[in-house]
Amino acid sequence: MNKLALSIISLTTLAASAGNPVYLDTKASIDDRVADALGRMTMEEKVNLLHAQGKFYSGGVPRLGIPGLWMSDGPHGVRAEINWNDWGYAGWTTDSITAFPALTALAATWNPSLAQEYGRALGEEALYRGKNVMLGPGVNILRTPLNGRNFEYMGEDPYLAGELVGPYIEGLQSTGTAACVKHFALNNQEKWRGTVEVKISDRALYEIYFPAFKKAVDAGVWSVMGAYNKIWGQHCCHNDRLLNQILKGDWGFDGVVITDWGGAHDTREAATNGLDIEMGSYTNGLTTEADGFSFNDYYLADPYLALLKSGEADEATLNDKASRVLKLIFRTAMAPEKQVGALCTPKHYDVARRIGSESLVLLKNQGNILPIDPAKYGKILVVGNNATRALNEGGGSSELKVKDMISPLQALQELWPGKVEYAEGYTSGRPLYEQHENIDTAALAQLRQEAVAKAKEADLVIYVGGLNKNAYQDCESTDRESFNLPYQQDLLIEQLAAACPNIVVVNLSGNPVAMDWADRVPAIIQGWYLGSMGGYSLADVISGKVNPSGKLPFSIPYKLEDVGAHSFGEKAYPGVESATASGTLIPGSVVEAGNNPVVDYCEDILVGYRWHDTKKIPARYPFGYGLSYTTFDYSKPRLSAKQITQGENLTVEVDVTNTGNVVGAETVQLYISDPKSSLPRPIKELKGFKKVSLQPGETATVAFTVTPAELSFYDPAKGWVAEPGKFIVTIGNQKADFTLK
Ligand code: BGC
Repeated sequence: MNKLALSIISLTTLAASAGNPVYLDTKASIDDRVADALGRMTMEEKVNLLHAQGKFYSGGVPRLGIPGLWMSDGPHGVRAEINWNDWGYAGWTTDSITAFPALTALAATWNPSLAQEYGRALGEEALYRGKNVMLGPGVNILRTPLNGRNFEYMGEDPYLAGELVGPYIEGLQSTGTAACVKHFALNNQEKWRGTVEVKISDRALYEIYFPAFKKAVDAGVWSVMGAYNKIWGQHCCHNDRLLNQILKGDWGFDGVVITDWGGAHDTREAATNGLDIEMGSYTNGLTTEADGFSFNDYYLADPYLALLKSGEADEATLNDKASRVLKLIFRTAMAPEKQVGALCTPKHYDVARRIGSESLVLLKNQGNILPIDPAKYGKILVVGNNATRALNEGGGSSELKVKDMISPLQALQELWPGKVEYAEGYTSGRPLYEQHENIDTAALAQLRQEAVAKAKEADLVIYVGGLNKNAYQDCESTDRESFNLPYQQDLLIEQLAAACPNIVVVNLSGNPVAMDWADRVPAIIQGWYLGSMGGYSLADVISGKVNPSGKLPFSIPYKLEDVGAHSFGEKAYPGVESATASGTLIPGSVVEAGNNPVVDYCEDILVGYRWHDTKKIPARYPFGYGLSYTTFDYSKPRLSAKQITQGENLTVEVDVTNTGNVVGAETVQLYISDPKSSLPRPIKELKGFKKVSLQPGETATVAFTVTPAELSFYDPAKGWVAEPGKFIVTIGNQKADFTLK
């Protein structure tokens, strides 16, 4: 038989199965489509699905017309196009998007329905840009305020992060775009991120660092990104216990495990330890690549094929990996009903603006200086580099190219035309990765003097400073080196406050910062990287158009030593290096590798407020804290029963009344304490929250259901246990507490 006849026969066979081959039949179930496609593929074609073919593209099956997966960062907007095989930007003119507020901002809204809107709007932008997988959201827990990447995560509490990650994923995936929750697990510092081995108890893993990932899986996330670091002697991207046993085994994850870019290091481990798609190998994931490597050299490319052919790697595992990838393709690129996306629509801008304004946390408002009544002030001076800086730039892989970006200065000038002057106050250089940029102190002194001179003439100063996305601040690949604000801002704020007592300080950051000047200023707003509409979000709150309702998603300590991770010396952060050199881990990398560093999570489960409460070390502003322009009264909480037995639920109700003159939203928080238990527990843990919006004088009843799950802790010997005994339910907003036993 000649070749032509052969291909005619195979075409007829394909067509015979149901008019269309099953894998192309959009009415068939995904599992049937996967099985059919897999049955038609050669070993080489299966391997081809498992590794990159471009910086953000993984292979498909061209012979069968099955496309590969287009991926993009994530998590705050769709990243600009990158060159096919280097980290440079491709310079397209069609890839400007909406920057949504950072995930810390989303966390500060404490509003799951906004998380859903966020995911949906982001998914629509991803669709328009032709992306199948968005690399986010990130849910690594804030363990230290020095971690350069906390701005991409959702704070210090696993319950809060877990309640927000699910709706974000559901919103995103409702567009047929996969979420890729990251970085699984324990990527809690950037220093030595590629090599550090984390030592941690199972209890801390299950109680603190796993729950948000587990909730992402429960919400049906289609992909998970492995972390760069190691645990139990293996890198997280190919880690038998983490990926095979826990993620895919215990939690029943049916999606795809993708490496972080350059997170794979070994073919045998990659083959057997739960990895499905390998990306970014032989690069540092951000700026560099090694010479002389091609996509066929990836661990899950030719080297894996060789193991399969020699029988050293088994085909069942290959089929499992390939099936998972095919499933992801049928869920996204070849989904039955492809939707049409949109970029930068009024609706997307509205979502971004509302998330931004709901995220702002009013920390202090002495004499009700806020909201600003412009009639009271002749001259208003805005000071600070962050009032004008494009905060979408820098920060690493989450960097965005925006179509529009409203700065705080622009928004305030639009709000009060002709009234607002500006002084930079400090300068901050450009976003550069892995490099210090030393700012000349003489230049800072001059800018400071100019701003202070103008402040003396002003009736009101609005200071907009904080961190930015430069290396060693809120930026991937480096950690912060100081808890204080950079560029001598502490000094600047003190001098401005002395020059003009009517001063509002707006701190924009993705991390807690030292606020040693807090007592010298009447008003403080904690803000974040607020995205395209950020200036309007801020102006909405400053002007009172929106009543602030954000609550801190992390504690703001007085000083770094008050943080659990910083209470045990170097071994607990950043870890210690061993005497033996670890060699070049990532060829071509300039990211600090360290010599086999090990970091020991000595504070165990006492992360964030769990540490502050239990060790009786008060935070300057506690987790969950945030003021409003109105006031709320709480009734005494009511319990449905004084006693419950295993299997029963308890209802806790409380009435909340808006006792002020303006509409406002309040996040009612429920904490559980277990004063007597067989293992020590934190003083209290967040186990419920609800946000209610109330008109002046209006009362709402907020009800929580407490189940044994909320009373449980993780006993390494027994798993999750709810022990008999007395529990304390605390309802409040971290300001006014009501307790009930
Ligand atoms: C980051 C990931 C990111 C990936 C692709 C890595 O350096 O850690 O979060 O998704 O690069 O840009």
